Amino acid sequence: MGLRISPSILSADFANLEREVHRIENADWLHVDVMDNHFVPNLTLGLPVLEAIGKVTDTPIDAHLMIDDPDRWAPSYAEAGARSVTFHVEAAAAPVRLARELRTLGARASMALKPATPIEPYEDLLPELDMVLLMTVEPGFGGQAFLDIMLPKIRRTRAMLDKHGGDVWLQVDGGVSAATIERCAEAGADTFVAGSAVFGAEDPAAMVDQLRDQAAG
Ligand code: DX5
Ligand code: ZN
Repeated sequence: MGLRISPSILSADFANLEREVHRIENADWLHVDVMDNHFVPNLTLGLPVLEAIGKVTDTPIDAHLMIDDPDRWAPSYAEAGARSVTFHVEAAAAPVRLARELRTLGARASMALKPATPIEPYEDLLPELDMVLLMTVEPGFGGQAFLDIMLPKIRRTRAMLDKHGGDVWLQVDGGVSAATIERCAEAGADTFVAGSAVFGAEDPAAMVDQLRDQAAG
């Protein structure tokens, strides 16, 4: 099973994004958190900044859209260069149509769930998706403590994905660090977002490698 580390630039120095991105060139993906101050109580960045980041790195961008009305906006992120686009199912009016549109644009289609959103109602949607993102904190801010109560949901989602077959990645986001990544991997996650753990480390690239090793067990 492949394992992927996707550092979140939310914890990077926003005044030096190009330099920050180059500090983690060994990362598998680059996680870009888009927040609109409506879906979550925080505001980060949007299309022009994501597009600019894409021009200074070869690392594929994993856009996590914490925004209202992803049906309208998510395709633009694929067009701006995000190789994976994650929308929140709580905000999507037509998640199947949206996932199909993202794939048509050449992006991986990914669906995110907040901690209190159950996966079970969405089981039938899995064939339309390339990734499921399970939030392991309430979305909106970096640096929050990992919610252990999400481990059973990671396990249930892993079982569901295995049952359906296919190659849908299972991403965890929030509080993932050297102290928690093994629990996430053991529960069945294969794709790991880490913001403060990576950019707060003295050597972010070494932390990326360490996290990948720890996840591999
Ligand atoms: C939070 C974001 C996360 C955040 C993770 O809403 O979706 O991607 O950057 O940060 P850490 O790893 O510090 O919890
Ligand atoms: Zn995120």
